[in-house]
Amino acid sequence: MALRALASVNLAAIERNVVSLRTRLNGGAELCAVVKADASGHGAVPVARAALAGGASMLAVATAGEAAELRAAGLTAPLLVLGAISSEELPVVLAAGAEVVAFNVRFVGQLAAASAAVSGDRPVGVHVKLDSGMGRLGTRDAEEAFAVAAAVGERAPGLRLVGAMTHLATADGDLDFAAAQLAVFAPFATELQRRFGRLRIHAANSAATLRVPASHFDMVRCGIALYGCDPMNEDPDSTGLEQAMELSSYVAAVKRAEAGDSVGYGRRFIAQRPTWVATMPIGYADGVRRGLTNNCDVLIDGRRYPLIGTVSMDNITADLGEGGSDGEPAGRVGAPAILIGRSGQERQTVEDIAHRLGTINHEVLCGISARVPRRYHRDGMPVP
Ligand SMILES: Cc1ncc(COP(=O)(O)O)c(C=O)c1O
Repeated sequence: MALRALASVNLAAIERNVVSLRTRLNGGAELCAVVKADASGHGAVPVARAALAGGASMLAVATAGEAAELRAAGLTAPLLVLGAISSEELPVVLAAGAEVVAFNVRFVGQLAAASAAVSGDRPVGVHVKLDSGMGRLGTRDAEEAFAVAAAVGERAPGLRLVGAMTHLATADGDLDFAAAQLAVFAPFATELQRRFGRLRIHAANSAATLRVPASHFDMVRCGIALYGCDPMNEDPDSTGLEQAMELSSYVAAVKRAEAGDSVGYGRRFIAQRPTWVATMPIGYADGVRRGLTNNCDVLIDGRRYPLIGTVSMDNITADLGEGGSDGEPAGRVGAPAILIGRSGQERQTVEDIAHRLGTINHEVLCGISARVPRRYHRDGMPVP
């Protein structure tokens, strides 16, 4: 039975993507599956399970709430919170038994106080972040980063320095700048380990995992590649990964428009000739952005039709054309309508939608709203 809007996620594809990514890693580096933002709309818990089944050895999220969600679902894998954590959020992170990233000495003090208040039997793993060029979190000053590392040892028995990391700004573009960042980070990581012992060193996101082997160190942190999207925001097939997300609706109505008839809010489509118009009950409240007005395709029964008129909150419309010589419409009521995915030989990727909107695949995926039910399968076999 068709649903008005549905996000179908192929967990087998995610698992295979992790296996494939791991085969590309330098000298035994591990893979951390970054499942923040509900695994970019795919569902953090099922994606985390699929990634672990594919051999991921760690999970990462951005927020305390995301860490708690994974633990509440029974996931016990090592877990890293990548983002800044306020003192209000720290107890949630500690209760989740997650590792954290330290950006400054002040944070280490807050962490020590919070961990002392929690009677956990395992020390909190801390990763020191060096800002080698991203310009957001972390210190640019290696001496300050050494001081952060030293503070972890000094402040509390409940803390343990376990890693050092940086984040690359241009692994999807300017590889010279990425190399310059690594030229800052690598000696820092070496010196840090000389002073504090063996640590887990990590720098690579998906783009760096695919393009910059020198960035693999001990672990890579992959997000977008898990879902079979292209970190360079081009053709995902070129990565050898499989896109896991399908976003669909169905044709709820087909009706005739005569030349001069308009469709949708603002009359932004006016038929130039008699044609058939399909209405699909999915709209911007589901994540089909209004910027796709007159600027997207819909795949129906293996054919590609232009989305016409304004994207409404709950509906979109497509031009099915003049129909057959018998005057019957080309598209049938009830047919699945694919916004992201394949229909016959046709496909529309997350990246295609991103290009239409002048954005990146991440933002398209994160925009698929909570109103859209997620359904999981493994190569077509439903997963409960
Ligand atoms: C610190 C950090 N590492 C890794 C990632 C994963 O990036 P990507 O989804 O491009 O693989 C992110 C996501 O933005 C991140 O913030």
